[in-house]
Amino acid sequence: MSPGSAEAAGLTENASAAEPLSPPIPTGPEEILAGALAALGATLRHYRAMGLSELPFDGAWLQGPAEVLVAQERELRDCRRCRLCDGRTTVVFGSGNPQADLVVIGEGPGADEDAQGLPFVGRAGQLLTKMLESVQLSRDEVYITNAVKCRPPGNRNPEADELAACAPFLAAQLGVIQPRVVLALGSVASQALLRTKEPIGKLRGRVHAYGSAVLIPTFHPAFLLRNPGQDYKRMAWEDLKLARREYDQRRRG
Ligand code: URA
Repeated sequence: MSPGSAEAAGLTENASAAEPLSPPIPTGPEEILAGALAALGATLRHYRAMGLSELPFDGAWLQGPAEVLVAQERELRDCRRCRLCDGRTTVVFGSGNPQADLVVIGEGPGADEDAQGLPFVGRAGQLLTKMLESVQLSRDEVYITNAVKCRPPGNRNPEADELAACAPFLAAQLGVIQPRVVLALGSVASQALLRTKEPIGKLRGRVHAYGSAVLIPTFHPAFLLRNPGQDYKRMAWEDLKLARREYDQRRRG
């Protein structure tokens, strides 16, 4: 047996029992591609052996993040899982980059958002745009959504059962986007996402672990509009810079 042969590497059926069938560790891009193709071939042979003769190329398994988000939004269009459905005009799903490394999460749509079907398009939304721009982030670069997708009547805070009813849909959305950084706006979103009752004043200013991402709580822009003092603005600015630092460190590619 020549030292460089497949048999010598333990890859043929003739390899003796004493030689374990351990595949070589791929090092270069060609070897990695060859390994991936071999695995794909094995998977296809497996399905052919099970009697499958056609592949569903229109199936969800081949969809990219943008298509999956569109499908999720469509699924929610007639949602009646909580009482918020009674007063809403539109389910406000989210907007922005389906592969964003940073996702902004507010509490729930207001009147403008309910009318337009888009998150953060009213006064608070205009301030949010400026807050993002202050750390050189555009709305198109990030993804913006809310903890609940339907407007609470009279702009009250969403209640615990309403947040719980919407939580699986937010989780599914985040599962598709897979952000590295989550910026949570205000106490309602921050407490719901972190499952805590700690006030926003205590939660903000630090980086919280959030699955494979990190979560940075900050003041809600609507709160900043109601409380125009320099102190809150300065703290929000610190939080945004913190989010930007985490974003730069953790970004893909
Ligand atoms: N406030 C929120 O929390 N979300 C919006 O989309 C608008 C205002």
